[in-house]
Amino acid sequence: MSHPRPLKVVILAAGQGTRMRSGLPKVLHPIAGKAMVRHVIAAAAALNSQKTVVVVGHGAPVVESALADLADAGVQFALQSPQLGTGHAVQMALPVLQPLPKDGQVLILYGDVPLIQPETLKALLQAAGDGVGLVTQHLDNPTGYGRIVRDAAGVVVCNVEEKDATDAQRKITEVNTGILCLPASHLEAWLAALSNNNAQGEYYLTDLLGMAVQAGIPVHTVSPQHDWEVAGVNSKGQLAALERIWQQHQAEQLMIEGVRLADPARIDIRGALRCGRDVSIDVGCVFEGSVDLEEGVRIGPYCVLRDVTVKAGAHIDAFSHLDQAEVGADAVVGPYARLRPGSTLGAGAHVGNFVELKNTRLGNGSKANHLAYVGDATVGERVNIGAGTITCNYDGANKHRTIIEDDAFIGSDTQLVAPVTVGRGATLGAGTTLTKDAPPDALTVSRVKQLSLTGWQRPVKQKK
Ligand code: UD1
Ligand code: CA
Repeated sequence: MSHPRPLKVVILAAGQGTRMRSGLPKVLHPIAGKAMVRHVIAAAAALNSQKTVVVVGHGAPVVESALADLADAGVQFALQSPQLGTGHAVQMALPVLQPLPKDGQVLILYGDVPLIQPETLKALLQAAGDGVGLVTQHLDNPTGYGRIVRDAAGVVVCNVEEKDATDAQRKITEVNTGILCLPASHLEAWLAALSNNNAQGEYYLTDLLGMAVQAGIPVHTVSPQHDWEVAGVNSKGQLAALERIWQQHQAEQLMIEGVRLADPARIDIRGALRCGRDVSIDVGCVFEGSVDLEEGVRIGPYCVLRDVTVKAGAHIDAFSHLDQAEVGADAVVGPYARLRPGSTLGAGAHVGNFVELKNTRLGNGSKANHLAYVGDATVGERVNIGAGTITCNYDGANKHRTIIEDDAFIGSDTQLVAPVTVGRGATLGAGTTLTKDAPPDALTVSRVKQLSLTGWQRPVKQKK
């Protein structure tokens, strides 16, 4: 493998995307929770692109502000208005691409062809060398694509667009995917020589192929590892189809790593999911952001996990929703549990049905098994939180903390009016409304004394 040449990348993203029927610019529509153009930018980054220029046009300010965070990563913008063709788009990128390294390569990608993989692009750059590289594909039905014309020896001669093609050329099944690598040293001169003298009156980027051949510079072709890598998105239907293909691909990768999926067609990963050994995931789960599932973790059906770490051996049962939470080793969560941001469970903790935690630490071995809200609380170890317990953490203006020390027992239907502390080993009687600290080891109860009236008679229905 020869040493990689300096690389700059141009991503064409100026087109309108009329068929998306959306106010959102096409390249911002998400695949796996991430704007299509961000997938392409990530592929460029994986190739160590020195600079990545996104050519924007329709919805340019929206696209630029949606990608503003990438400025530090060497992503810049060029405006193409009006859109006079793919060659014109690269012309508009040229000033931003400067300076062009003499022995460098310029790679052309597309904001609406989101799933191109770095492996295919590396093969393309390698094949191109100091010549031209083009990703082509053989299609049973090549309608609509540019056709790759080869001579009798099989050497690429040029690309001809469908609308400019002869009947014989239209029968060619090798098509241009659009993804192209050009030698930086020739780019300026070739772009300057483009004309729009063709059926569509556009400046065709693909005319550079013919120019290269004329100049004696060979055009090398590679095909993608997977057909879906070069699939473009023009409609919501194509967006959904590509989403499923990508989810299926991610599911296959997980299974290769040893994860047990109840059904690889029923999982959605919108971010990065890392799994240890012997993880199993039931149907219908959604993983967002950065999720880590350590060894032996089991996820029940229809759970949503966003930015979550689940330590070894823990179980998340059906219909649980976890957001920015950490679950300790061998803990049990759900069914029907909700862990909101800032929830951390210690080892062996239990959070059961219809329990909501927010910004709360539940220590090792502590349990809140049914119907509770625990917010802004620090709960020690081996604490039992009874059904119906509520931390009253919000006074209408400010949030306050509740502290429950080790081995405390919180009786059912208790309200803890924060700020308040329950001492180590304390017991709160059922129904307590705790407004002052509960001392350690004592029983604290706040309820009206129980009263029984022996002579009392039930009312009886009056006869009419
Ligand atoms: C282009 C290729 C064709 C190839 C096909 C693959 C040319 C002349 N033709 O055709 O050989 O088979 O892609 O899908 O390149 N864009 C701009 N500015 C423009 C025009 C286009 O940014 O002025 C962007 C579009 O947003 C889109 C991409 O370039 O992402 C391709 O444009 P499109 O008009 O779809 O190209 P095709 O005519 O399909
Ligand atoms: Ca076109």
